[in-house]
Amino acid sequence: MAPIISIRSLSKTYANGFKALDNVSLDIEEGEIIALLGPNGAGKTTLISIVCGITNPSSGQVLVAGHDVVKDFRKTRGEIGLVPQELTTDMFETVINTVSFSRGLNGKKPNPELVESILRELTLFEKRNDALRELSGGMKRRVLIAKALSHEPRILFLDEPTAGVDVALRKDMWQLVSRLRQTGVTIILTTHYIEEAQEIADRVGVINRGKLLLVEDKNTLMRKLGKKHLTVQLHARLEEIPASLSEWNLKLNDTGDQLIYDYELGSNHGAIARLLQDVDAAGLGFDDLSTRQTSLEDIFVSLIGEAE
Ligand SMILES: Nc1ncnc2c1ncn2[C@@H]1O[C@H](COP(=O)(O)OP(=O)(O)O)[C@@H](O)[C@H]1O
Ligand SMILES: [Mg+2]
Repeated sequence: MAPIISIRSLSKTYANGFKALDNVSLDIEEGEIIALLGPNGAGKTTLISIVCGITNPSSGQVLVAGHDVVKDFRKTRGEIGLVPQELTTDMFETVINTVSFSRGLNGKKPNPELVESILRELTLFEKRNDALRELSGGMKRRVLIAKALSHEPRILFLDEPTAGVDVALRKDMWQLVSRLRQTGVTIILTTHYIEEAQEIADRVGVINRGKLLLVEDKNTLMRKLGKKHLTVQLHARLEEIPASLSEWNLKLNDTGDQLIYDYELGSNHGAIARLLQDVDAAGLGFDDLSTRQTSLEDIFVSLIGEAE
């Protein structure tokens, strides 16, 4: 099946000469959830804006459902719901009018039952007649989501959906994403929260300084780059690691009472037993051991670090 979104060699240089995207290519399959992970300023919003036809690319091309986002803007925009990072809605309008109007703007016939069900799902129904300016920040963000869903898009972009929101809304958002996935909606979210990508995405793309550093199935990524750390809690503090242990490339923690051994998953047959014998032979007493697996966070930090 052809990808629902095909991003090909996309670059964007802003009028001031700043290169925000550098040769980004990415295919997104219908029904998947992909998280674009990257620090502030990485180019995430720029990428989304181009796919949504809000910003023009400097070079490259984006196809949405087989149509060019620049040439066939109306067609492609109709397939997309966008929840923007910033609140941009008319603050004097009521919730229900804002959402109904948004459906109309996307060329769809009025459907009060659908609008009502969206408002209920986002726990906005009780507030439907309130003006937006009366709502809390979290509620306003729910309205943006309701707007984005009002024309039943096949693709939903969530640009930093949970930046600065409370825990309850974040959990609601994650639930909403998993319900939407069951209806076959393709979801692209940007985030700088690793936990969020780890929780809800099928695939993760890491973007930094306008470059897509990698795109990988989340579990494969964890397996490929996953390392384990063994920590040996020592009886006494060390000034330095004894020379007899040098082959192990151990690290000593700041307080000098823990030895840390990093190893690849599945490549250490018998190594830990030998390490502990060597530690013992070096005259070091230890009273505890623990292991920890690399999280997506560790992977992310090391990737971004390498790209600096
Ligand atoms: N209209 C613009 N003109 C010039 N530079 C811009 C413009 N919009 C964004 N940028 C710059 O492009 C970079 C990427 O921005 P953005 O796509 O918003 O990143 P992100 O969403 O990952 O935080 C930033 O350095 C930002 O300052
Ligand atoms: Mg952004």
